[in-house]
Amino acid sequence: MSKTIIVSNRLPVEFKISGNRIQSTPSVGGLATGLKSVHATGESLWIGWPGLTSEQIGDFDVALNRTASESRMANVFLKQAEVRDFYFGFSNKSLWPLFHYFLEYTLYDPKQWDAYYRVNQKYAECVLAHAEEGDRIWIHDYQLMLVPSMIREKRPDVSIGFFLHIPFPAFEIFRTCPWRDELLSGLLGADLIGFHTYDYVQHFLNSVKRIKGFSVKFNEVDANGRTVKVDSFPMGVDFNKFHFSAAKYEVTGQQFQSDLVNRLQDHLKQYPDSRLILSIDRLDYTKGIPNRIRAFQYFLERHPEYIGKVRLVMLAVPSREDVPQYRKLKRETDELVGRVNGKFATIDWTPIWYFYRSLPYEDLVALYTTSHIAMITPLRDGMNLVAKEYVATRIERDGVLILSEMAGAANELSQALLINPENMNQISETLDQALRMPLEEQRHRMEAMQKRLSRYTIEKWANDFVTSLEKTVRNTPNPA
Ligand code: UDP
Ligand code: G6P
Repeated sequence: MSKTIIVSNRLPVEFKISGNRIQSTPSVGGLATGLKSVHATGESLWIGWPGLTSEQIGDFDVALNRTASESRMANVFLKQAEVRDFYFGFSNKSLWPLFHYFLEYTLYDPKQWDAYYRVNQKYAECVLAHAEEGDRIWIHDYQLMLVPSMIREKRPDVSIGFFLHIPFPAFEIFRTCPWRDELLSGLLGADLIGFHTYDYVQHFLNSVKRIKGFSVKFNEVDANGRTVKVDSFPMGVDFNKFHFSAAKYEVTGQQFQSDLVNRLQDHLKQYPDSRLILSIDRLDYTKGIPNRIRAFQYFLERHPEYIGKVRLVMLAVPSREDVPQYRKLKRETDELVGRVNGKFATIDWTPIWYFYRSLPYEDLVALYTTSHIAMITPLRDGMNLVAKEYVATRIERDGVLILSEMAGAANELSQALLINPENMNQISETLDQALRMPLEEQRHRMEAMQKRLSRYTIEKWANDFVTSLEKTVRNTPNPA
């Protein structure tokens, strides 16, 4: 029976070796949480990095491979220098900032580009070792943009799909990359290339025309005689899973693993009129965390009537700590939170509850369900699944979503209160509007968003992509 080979930089779990035992924790981020449901239901093999360097793994490689294969996964082992130059290097010091329009953070180092090329080859070889006739290969995200053409070169017969989970930037931004040509050629090895939004598709096609000089008709690129289809597939969430977990939680009122959520529950019991504003993100400079804190401070200054009555509950998940910009952001966030709390706190009220850690799934659901408002303010974001997860858990159809118009999710969630994350005054007034919004209006907006999200689920996203890949390969048999 044919299978789908999912390929991503990271596996959905991170392995840890403690004494003689292998432990695993779920990976954080939209790609991992989204694809996990796809992997769980289909006939598939997931190829990726287990999160440890080869030096840390030592002689545990065989045991780690056995553990991975029990869950239909295969490891790509990376040496410490590869993690430094490929992962922290070209992937997260060049591509990530460039694709999110942070040109001032974008560094180019030919040594890191070489590592990116070599590691992409390593992934391609691992895929080739596992690919059998009739298999479908589905490669994910910016860390692996060269893999499609590397596989195509050796196996012209297989079907290859690629999905980018982050924005594809405008041509004027993308053209500044010294390896723009190689990156496009790498991607064009695929039969189908998917993006979250129509705009990202247009930006990509524009770059293909202007940099490669290939002709583009509708959504099809003529890449030297091979046809490559390009389309948008907005990623959804496992709506039922979030919805039913929230319903179960409401009924049982269970205890949670983290003190954070237990304390929050106690707080709400004691102060039932208190309003909670939630934000959840990886601590990443694209997520607009400092803007959000500054806007919250501005809001408290402008609307002192809310002092003592509202709280910003901010969960920031540690991410990419070896990249200097992330360490700088951590310092800036700590300082800003300290400043706001120092300025406004009273004996029995702290305006910002800030937590720097990740939470297990049940606790995340509890956070979503207990928060009256979710405030999500990225400066750029490919999609933003947290916004969709918040909506999915609102079983009473109450609650308000404040969402940055710079998130891909804003295209689908037009009933959210959309804001420009650079506009402090607008965020502050929108918070006031959200806090005063009548229940009827909350329900009206939530209902419309839930209707959309319960239709365009993660399962539908995966099915649409795979069906389109099959159709593309069937209709445009490329020269082998
Ligand atoms: N998430 C998680 N543990 C946490 C916090 C968040 O697993 O402690 C998940 C969250 O449920 C969501 C994902 O991480 O599915 C974040 O995805 P999003 O698209 O919002 O942002 P990304 O991190 O991919 O940029
Ligand atoms: C985003 C990226 C993913 C990445 C995730 C977590 O969602 O699109 O490719 O896996 O962030 O980042 P990390 O660097 O920890 O894998």
